[in-house]
Amino acid sequence: MLSSFDRLLFIRRVSIFQELRDEFLVKLASVMDELSFPSSHTIFEQGEEGRSLYIVVSGRVRVHLGDQELVQLEQGSIFGEMALFDAEPRSASVTTLEKCDCLTLNQLQLIDAIEETPEIAVNVTRALSRRIRELNSKVKTYEHQLNSINAQA
Ligand code: CMP
Repeated sequence: MLSSFDRLLFIRRVSIFQELRDEFLVKLASVMDELSFPSSHTIFEQGEEGRSLYIVVSGRVRVHLGDQELVQLEQGSIFGEMALFDAEPRSASVTTLEKCDCLTLNQLQLIDAIEETPEIAVNVTRALSRRIRELNSKVKTYEHQLNSINAQA
């Protein structure tokens, strides 16, 4: 568990909150929930309804579709933002790889933060863009691997 001061220091370093005024950060830090999960715990499953965004405070999680791992995330990373923005079910499952502490933000808290500092929406979009680029580069790698397997057959 983080003390209120450590929590404030931590969320100030989280990329999506970087432009928030200290006064608002203090307010945000005080309303966020902190959750602890054991290792190999599924935080949520693909297809579930999602109402929170998570920030990894410590530990590591993997984002996966069944057995297929999409990415591993560590301290400072966010996940669960997609269902919050598009009100669709969770696009993937998230399971801890080790003991993990996370801070969570619900939809109302996120909207409040964006109204206070619209740059947060830009920061989330930047994080989403980065993920699409990483995904594109993985698709390219798989395509190359598939082509060389087909060429050998
Ligand atoms: P959400 O759809 O709410 O729940 C699953 C989360 O996994 C999703 O939000 C993103 O935060 C994350 N996620 C889904 N797909 C990827 C991906 N390809 N790369 C990184 N993170 C992802």
